[in-house]
Amino acid sequence: MITLAPIAAADPAAVEALLDAAFGTDRHGRTAYRLREGVAAIPELSFAAFDDAGELVGTLQSWPIELVGDDGRIMPLALVGPVAVRPDRQRDGIGRRLMDVMIAAADAGHADALMLIGDPEYYERFFGFTAQVTGGWSVPGPVERRRLLARLRGAAPLPAQGHLRPRRLAVADGALR
Ligand SMILES: CC(C)(COP(=O)(O)OP(=O)(O)OC[C@H]1O[C@@H](n2cnc3c(N)ncnc32)[C@H](O)[C@@H]1OP(=O)(O)O)[C@@H](O)C(=O)NCCC(=O)NCCS
Repeated sequence: MITLAPIAAADPAAVEALLDAAFGTDRHGRTAYRLREGVAAIPELSFAAFDDAGELVGTLQSWPIELVGDDGRIMPLALVGPVAVRPDRQRDGIGRRLMDVMIAAADAGHADALMLIGDPEYYERFFGFTAQVTGGWSVPGPVERRRLLARLRGAAPLPAQGHLRPRRLAVADGALR
């Protein structure tokens, strides 16, 4: 049986070891890591999965970022990921459970729109993320456009053109610029 819990229940070193196993130790150079530089994960949208023995078998972290529109609007977003399942437990529904609980928490809390960099064959198929709205967004590093995905909520449309960045300035200043 798999048990989900807030990420705080997991040993941070075990989380890092799991991420290394799922993505490789060179993962820190990825564009998604630049997007979340200097910010802490969002506790309400970050989860861990444990097996019967209490071993960590999956993690999902989400981060506060923002879309700076060319029209001057600054829209908060949550960057989802990495989503990682221990290699020997992959394709057993753990990733879907982590994503489902995160999306339910986001929807219940009226959180910001969600975005991620990942395979549409997984994140579009099961969770409704789409690259349709992200074509005009730039990111701090290389990205395959088809893998830049968003899941919009509510009525407020996001700017079609703009750039994504960590939301750290807003946090540090206590206010949006
Ligand atoms: C991607 C990942 C989070 C999915 O979690 P998981 O627990 O292994 O997968 P789930 O059991 O939730 O989902 C299984 C289904 O998703 C599909 N799937 C899983 N990963 C996929 C991927 N990267 N692309 C396309 N389909 C994928 C499986 O084929 C399966 O489909 P089926 O039910 O039709 O057979 C996990 O495999 C992982 O950590 N992988 C290593 C990191 C990685 O490669 N990430 C790439 C995406 S960013």
